[in-house]
Amino acid sequence: MTARRRKELKVLIRQAAIQRAVRRIARQIERDFRGQRVHLIGVLKGACIFLSDLIREIHLDVSLDFMAVASYGKDQQSSGQVRLLKDLDTSIEGLNVILVEDILDTGLTLNYLFRILEQRKPRTLRIAALLDKPSRRIIPQVQAHYLGFKIPNEFVVGYGLDYAERYRNLRDVCVLAQPPE
Ligand code: IMP
Repeated sequence: MTARRRKELKVLIRQAAIQRAVRRIARQIERDFRGQRVHLIGVLKGACIFLSDLIREIHLDVSLDFMAVASYGKDQQSSGQVRLLKDLDTSIEGLNVILVEDILDTGLTLNYLFRILEQRKPRTLRIAALLDKPSRRIIPQVQAHYLGFKIPNEFVVGYGLDYAERYRNLRDVCVLAQPPE
């Protein structure tokens, strides 16, 4: 890491702790769906790193699909608007679906996606989120069934999370102290 990067980034959750959380979540999912198939739906793009680690830890019959929604872009504040950019490739009717998201913030994104998916008659529908900022929640009923970490109200990057499409490749989750110009 360069000196400039060290200044703008403060490590919040280290790689080793993330790996332990991913394994813990995978064990919970295995317990809940023993002997069954689970269908993971990743919310692009932020969840891609979490999802790719999680899916390899789950020792069940697992399938995968993706959805994409409009993201924050360059702004650190949510616009409050959610727009579907990419829908699923296949039907989820009768499947045990787990919606995999990087971070649960206001809850607007997951609330929107949960409602859409509910209407498609999955057998079960759950949420797995790596991070949760409970103090930012606008939709209180949105909760992660499987959660890595509760974090304070700080803007974080790394492990899939971005600021203006940067930092997704960091192995740790870091607080972005000084957004770059
Ligand atoms: P929500 O709809 O407000 O819950 O926001 C969910 C989405 O906002 C996440 O999938 C992220 O893309 C983005 N987001 C929320 N908080 C952060 C953050 O601290 N860093 C990076 N992206 C964030």
